[in-house]
Amino acid sequence: MIVLGIETSCDETSVALVEDNTVIANLVYSQIQIHKKFGGVVPEIAAREHLKKLPILFSELINQTNINIEKIDGIAVTKGPGLIGALLVGVSFAKGLALRYKKPLVGINHIIGHVYANYIAYPELKPPYIVLMVSGGHTLILKVEENNSVTILGRSVDDAVGEAFDKIARLLGLGYPGGPEIDKISKNGNPNAFNFPKPKMYDPDYNFSFSGLKTAVLYEIKRLIKNGYNENNLPIADLAASAQEVMIDVLLHKVTKAARDNNLKNIVLAGGVAANSRLREKIRALSEEFNFYIPPLEYCSDNAAMIARAGLERIKSGENDGLNFEPVPNFFEMMST
Ligand code: KG4
Ligand code: ZN
Repeated sequence: MIVLGIETSCDETSVALVEDNTVIANLVYSQIQIHKKFGGVVPEIAAREHLKKLPILFSELINQTNINIEKIDGIAVTKGPGLIGALLVGVSFAKGLALRYKKPLVGINHIIGHVYANYIAYPELKPPYIVLMVSGGHTLILKVEENNSVTILGRSVDDAVGEAFDKIARLLGLGYPGGPEIDKISKNGNPNAFNFPKPKMYDPDYNFSFSGLKTAVLYEIKRLIKNGYNENNLPIADLAASAQEVMIDVLLHKVTKAARDNNLKNIVLAGGVAANSRLREKIRALSEEFNFYIPPLEYCSDNAAMIARAGLERIKSGENDGLNFEPVPNFFEMMST
């Protein structure tokens, strides 16, 4: 079965063709260079860029793969959560194709798409498992039951962890997006140089809070400057490595607690922050107790292959959302549809 995937929820325009667990092609156009100068994603610009790039990427996909669109079995598009203008571009485009080629169309939950990125690398993966979903917009611990139903066990009560990486990077004068920058510079830093508080680490629930860490880093910078440092000689690598360590430790503490409490050994990682090299390194120390599933780097950040892979499951079981569904920007609303 071949499914076309379309992803336009944030700042990556992406189209993909997936045949069962094999990605035939996955084209991603990142708008990051455009949003960089604003220090974050500008929703209006994102939507306009999707509008410009999506038809071009789609033609490229068809030319490159030489696959006749008449031959595909269905279309999967990100329905939400995401930026409403951005989502609308993908959903409208997908509806146009579904109508023109008379194909089944399914609207996919972007978060579940991130989880399905793992099935591309690990076809043997089967629920039940615990998910640690860590992106720029969401920090979640989910439980996926044997019947694929999803329960939210925990979430961030304020900033998402990717957002915290981005904001702390900005405080440290590093580029955008901040996650990869902190990851890179931390390799030259001491993760124990600063003792930042570990927010909610020992609370009995599975929730997170990351906005206080950003404030703690800000106060530490101010204290260092008071003590004779200036903007040019701040120990940026140590500050970055110490902040990163707190975030990674809290994430791993909570997700392993959730897995233990639920008697589960399989932990699935998803989302952009799963690309973090320190996270990947620290997971190795836990690999005797748990089986970790981490998507390959190219499928950690937003891409249409994961959307197609999630859609394939639904199209295979005969589902078709038709042409009457709308994008759903809100995560909780999306989880309940
Ligand atoms: O899942 P994603 O590509 O987009 C959504 O937010 O949906 O995640 C993007 C987030 C950004 O906040 C970025 O800074 C973070 O993932 N990120 C990382 C790394 N690579 C990307 N955070 C930590 N370490 C990384 N290597
Ligand atoms: Zn995402």
